[in-house]
Amino acid sequence: RIVFLNGSFLPLEDAKVPFMDRGFLFGDGIYEGIGVLNGRLVDNEAHLERLERSLREVRIANPYSRAEWTRLEEELVRRNGMVEGFLYFQVTRGVSERDFFFPEDAQPTVAMFTQAKSIVHAPVAETGIAVVTVPDLRWERRDIKAISLLAQVLAKQTAKEAGAQEAWMVEDGFVTEGGSSSAFIITKAGAVVVRPLSHAILPGITRKSLLELSKEEGIVLEERRFTVEEAYDAAEAFLTSASNFILPVVTIDGRPVADGKPGPLTQKLRQLYLKMAG
Ligand code: PDD
Repeated sequence: RIVFLNGSFLPLEDAKVPFMDRGFLFGDGIYEGIGVLNGRLVDNEAHLERLERSLREVRIANPYSRAEWTRLEEELVRRNGMVEGFLYFQVTRGVSERDFFFPEDAQPTVAMFTQAKSIVHAPVAETGIAVVTVPDLRWERRDIKAISLLAQVLAKQTAKEAGAQEAWMVEDGFVTEGGSSSAFIITKAGAVVVRPLSHAILPGITRKSLLELSKEEGIVLEERRFTVEEAYDAAEAFLTSASNFILPVVTIDGRPVADGKPGPLTQKLRQLYLKMAG
């Protein structure tokens, strides 16, 4: 497996990051994750736009232009012969003696790898997944795609131990989002409901594309917060992420959503998304 680290493509075993990297010591960095389908990056421009925004918000200089990022991403996909899966990259504030203040001379560390994975024919896309709700313990700038993911690691592990595949995080009784995905429900009246963008959630790129597709299809959209009770009572539920595209949610806290099978509108949206992405 070939990865990219600080300007070089090299075998994973040879890719070493220094002990004093601020990503390692402080979680001081940001990341992106992009779906790959048929060897092509899905929604690359939107992901690079979000990357630029995350870097600006945490005041790390962007080491590459959008064209350079794209060239590196495409070369890594090509070198790994990747057809379908996930491309991950992160930028940290770099290497320096441990000190909270920004280092004056450090260069950002840039690391990128690919994970081959079946997204289109994943069994969970057919069966749907279980989610459990957990308190949202994260900081107040969840719109920044920061590498500090301790709250999500704990949330998702709790979900796993409860027999679920994703955690839906809850604040003030309202679902914010999944541990690594955007959360949606569909009401009995057929409206697709998703929380509006704010500092409380990550602006999901799959979310954004799906909303555009839904608008084109004339599907009723409600960008508003929804409660856990409303989710229990929904006609359908699903999640979106670059690593899974769209997955039906069939139980929430052990309660079946409607009949406990992937919903028809969810499946239609998934097909529309796959057509757009492929
Ligand atoms: N996670 N919300 C959170 C908290 C996320 O971590 C993610 C993505 C999303 C969905 O965003 P997008 O559609 O742009 O992938 C929403 C990635 C896949 C991850 O951490 O692996």
